[in-house]
Amino acid sequence: MHYLVTGGAGFIGSHLVEALVARGDAVTVLDDFSTGAKANLATLPVRIVRGSVTDAAAVDEALVGVDQVVHLAAAVGVRKIMEERVTGIRTNVQGSETVFAACAARRLPLFLASTSETYGKNTAVPFREDADAVLGSTSLHRWSYACSKLLDEFLALAYFHEHRLPVVVARFFNVTGPRQSPEYGMVLPRFCRAALADGALEVHGSGRQSRCFLHVADAVDAILRLLDCPAAIGEVVNIGSEEEVTIHDLAQRVIALAGRGRVHQIPYAAAFPDGGFEDMQRRVPDTGKLSRLTGWRKTRDLEATIVDALGWAAH
Ligand SMILES: NC(=O)c1ccc[n+]([C@@H]2O[C@H](COP(=O)([O-])OP(=O)(O)OC[C@H]3O[C@@H](n4cnc5c(N)ncnc54)[C@H](O)[C@@H]3O)[C@@H](O)[C@H]2O)c1
Repeated sequence: MHYLVTGGAGFIGSHLVEALVARGDAVTVLDDFSTGAKANLATLPVRIVRGSVTDAAAVDEALVGVDQVVHLAAAVGVRKIMEERVTGIRTNVQGSETVFAACAARRLPLFLASTSETYGKNTAVPFREDADAVLGSTSLHRWSYACSKLLDEFLALAYFHEHRLPVVVARFFNVTGPRQSPEYGMVLPRFCRAALADGALEVHGSGRQSRCFLHVADAVDAILRLLDCPAAIGEVVNIGSEEEVTIHDLAQRVIALAGRGRVHQIPYAAAFPDGGFEDMQRRVPDTGKLSRLTGWRKTRDLEATIVDALGWAAH
């Protein structure tokens, strides 16, 4: 098979490309290198098209000879979307629409990366895929990330229903591990870098908010299984770990494993001085659907995931 991976030079993308190449598939990557890096693909025999998913000509060029598309390119994470508000929405909405339309014209199967952010302020954890999206006010720009990804989901499912485009929508819950950059606010690489420098691990708010972290190798395994799963077509599927940890405890565990660092609590208003921010307390996936469809099981616990992230931060 020949796959197009948009955003293939990024964190999850580069691990996926590596796995596809390892199983003998051909890969083209379309990436604008805004948060991804060529170095992530340095040793891999892939065709790289440098360009934006918002550019139909670049998408057309990237699709030559391709059998299936994994759409990962996006302005990722709440901090990035708070800093580049218009570009973030444009990338995630117009970029996805451009990719979907090109896939529909060629009837190419499509995998869409969505996010656990789409559950928003819903408190009924663990989240099943049919749970409500509970978003905040448009005056709080952080919700635009979830909203843009929800629109992607609606559009992908609309293409499935109206044009019979084979689509699978996956919602990632805090995927982490080697190659994830600390630059865009992702918490575990940020904590690892701070601890290794014997510095302050900045915990926003009370630290009692919790998350579930999934090792990227387990996320890639889930993607590969879903790509080969006809029963997943037209479905939305969570990909995550059910092992929950508060952010304060995560900081403590990083400090214990690194043997250095200290917790420094700061108010949200100091972390996001431009305002427009609110956090959700808990975000736990129900991964029953993924397991039933594909037989997937997580293979790395939180401790192993932190150890790998620390190893990467130290290298
Ligand atoms: N890492 C997570 O925990 C997580 C959680 C939920 C959802 N996701 C989703 O998974 C996908 C991959 O995320 P990631 O964590 O690997 O982030 P990442 O930032 O490492 O990867 C995104 C990639 O897309 C590229 N890109 C951005 N804008 C582009 C554009 N306009 N045209 C072409 N390429 C562009 C970037 O250069 C980068 O290589 C994203 O769609 C993201 O929303 C990730």
